[in-house]
Amino acid sequence: MAILKDKVCIVTGGAGSIGGAIARKFLDEGAKVLLVDLSEQALEQAVAALASPHVAAVPADVGDDEQTQAFVAAAVERWGRVDVLICNAGNAGPIGGIEDYPVEAMDDVYRVHVRGAFLGSKHAIPHMAEGSSIVIMSSVAGLGGSPGVYAYATAKHAQVGLMRSIAKEVAKRGIRVNTLHPGPIDNSFQTEIERSFSPLIGGGDATALMNSMIPMGRHGEASEIAQAALFLASSMSSFTTGSVLVADGGFTS
Ligand SMILES: NC(=O)c1ccc[n+]([C@@H]2O[C@H](COP(=O)([O-])OP(=O)(O)OC[C@H]3O[C@@H](n4cnc5c(N)ncnc54)[C@H](O)[C@@H]3O)[C@@H](O)[C@H]2O)c1
Repeated sequence: MAILKDKVCIVTGGAGSIGGAIARKFLDEGAKVLLVDLSEQALEQAVAALASPHVAAVPADVGDDEQTQAFVAAAVERWGRVDVLICNAGNAGPIGGIEDYPVEAMDDVYRVHVRGAFLGSKHAIPHMAEGSSIVIMSSVAGLGGSPGVYAYATAKHAQVGLMRSIAKEVAKRGIRVNTLHPGPIDNSFQTEIERSFSPLIGGGDATALMNSMIPMGRHGEASEIAQAALFLASSMSSFTTGSVLVADGGFTS
């Protein structure tokens, strides 16, 4: 049985690794999927790779109010409503000591993760009926402090406060809102973070260190995060709202 049959799903950061895996999984489960990302060219490639009549794309910056209204309107115009919003777009920001940390990075990273999830929710909710679901892609960095990861860890924590607050407001309308918290994933986003982290651990191999800290002994796959997103997006999680779902191989346990 297709778990998301005919559900209208918006996936931001849809040209990226986890967003692409979510789109693939949702299409396999019968959904109609609108990909949102910054680059028109990257979106064209993502749409071509997905090779489905049920996928479309709109280039947009999730931190921009008008562009967010436009991509929500595009989904509604094409398919009539929004059933699922996956706020997944993300930027990592720099890694470095607090005294030298670039001030503007706090705004740049906050803008994508927090303002982006706020705007997406604000504009999608009016088009959502009972049974709809919002999933905000946080991180294990949203559950505990990470020295040197100031902008990213702070923004990922803030997403939890946003999620809990919206969840309480819309619960009576039957709309659920949750955060998903992946641990380190085997993709270029995480590889880049680990490369930047290396100087803070004396030039050591941050990937190997990370694996040694994960009880399952490995990074996750984007497809494994897509499975967790499917649970939160679908009626399988019909009594789950205001919650944090961790998919991290035991990293934060
Ligand atoms: N990779 C990991 O290990 C990991 C772990 C935990 C959480 N996450 C989170 O998962 C999400 C997806 O990350 P990923 O690993 O797939 O990385 P990715 O870089 O492959 O994907 C992120 C996508 O977001 C897009 N994006 C960035 N800023 C945007 C903006 N302003 N508007 C629209 N799109 C924008 C990028 O262009 C990119 O395609 C992010 O929120 C990230 O913080 C990733």
